Amino acid sequence: MKTRITELFNIEHPIIQGGMHYVGFAELAAAVSNAGGLGIITGLTQKTPADLAKEIARCRKMTDNPFGVNLTFLPTVTSPDYPGYISAIIEGGVKIVETAGRNPQEYLPRLQDAGVKVIHKCTSVRHALKAEKIGCDAVSVDGFECGGHPGEDDIPNMILLPRAAEELKIPFVASGGMADARSLVASLALGADGINMGTRFIATKEAPVHENVKQAIVAATELDTRLVMRPLRNTERVLHNAAVERLLEKEASLGKNLRFEDIIEEVAGVYPKIMMNGNMDAGVWSCGMVAGLIHDIPTCKELIDRIMSEAEALIRNRLEGMLAR
Ligand SMILES: Cc1cc2nc3c(=O)[nH]c(=O)nc-3n(C[C@H](O)[C@H](O)[C@H](O)COP(=O)(O)O)c2cc1C
Repeated sequence: MKTRITELFNIEHPIIQGGMHYVGFAELAAAVSNAGGLGIITGLTQKTPADLAKEIARCRKMTDNPFGVNLTFLPTVTSPDYPGYISAIIEGGVKIVETAGRNPQEYLPRLQDAGVKVIHKCTSVRHALKAEKIGCDAVSVDGFECGGHPGEDDIPNMILLPRAAEELKIPFVASGGMADARSLVASLALGADGINMGTRFIATKEAPVHENVKQAIVAATELDTRLVMRPLRNTERVLHNAAVERLLEKEASLGKNLRFEDIIEEVAGVYPKIMMNGNMDAGVWSCGMVAGLIHDIPTCKELIDRIMSEAEALIRNRLEGMLAR
């Protein structure tokens, strides 16, 4: 399958693995890229630019195919050393960066002068248009279904994707709720040039996270996610657990007076405990509604091959077969 995204990133299949905190290590990125998709290392999971440089070198040893790095610009008290991370990316020869969160404009010239293609992840048409205007090469359009931060507009992909297609000139991938060939074919029909998956890639053999995390995703249904931190305008879709229950009780009782400090125990520094130690109630962690469509733990190659072969069958048999001759 050839799309503007496979051409832009020089990849075989139009499938991207989005950056994921404490999941997007070299092992997963390399496995996705070796399977013909685009694997992405999560930049900020690496504590320093030097650590990111090492992770990039590790990934390079595991794959000859293109892979990217995610740089997330989230509201944090002390800003990470973004210029340092960008140096690690450029010096490591990485040619694709997925940005997310705040507007990446101030970092674009340095990245693009070094030949890096930038795909910005955003949750609204207006932010996607802004990304196009400042010169991003592509966007990842994240619908309300998505695991992680869906923004504050609450527009699901059935509306958001065709709206993006109406407005954008640069290529975009559909993100949020993507799991299988049906997701890919539907996204292409809605105007996207590929898909970006987060939650689906956690439940793969190569994802370097605790088995409990993968089993929790397989066990979850589409009813099992919750939105937290809405009162702080930092909404996150997470898998329901005891910590989420506690956090939601605080949100209900404190109302408009809720401050970040009130929920620090549930949100700060919890990812290593969950992803590495498998302590599933240690805090809140991002997970998409798409968990309801995830029933197995394949290798990345099995997953991507299955998506591509079933997509072909869907298009050639189911869709074409419906047309009058
Ligand atoms: C556990 C987890 C951690 C994530 N961490 C990040 C992150 O650090 N930066 C980022 O840009 N997106 C992050 N995301 C969002 C994903 O890259 C992707 O946009 C999202 O998962 C797509 O929705 P889906 O889960 O329905 O596929 C995370 C998602 C999950 C599930």
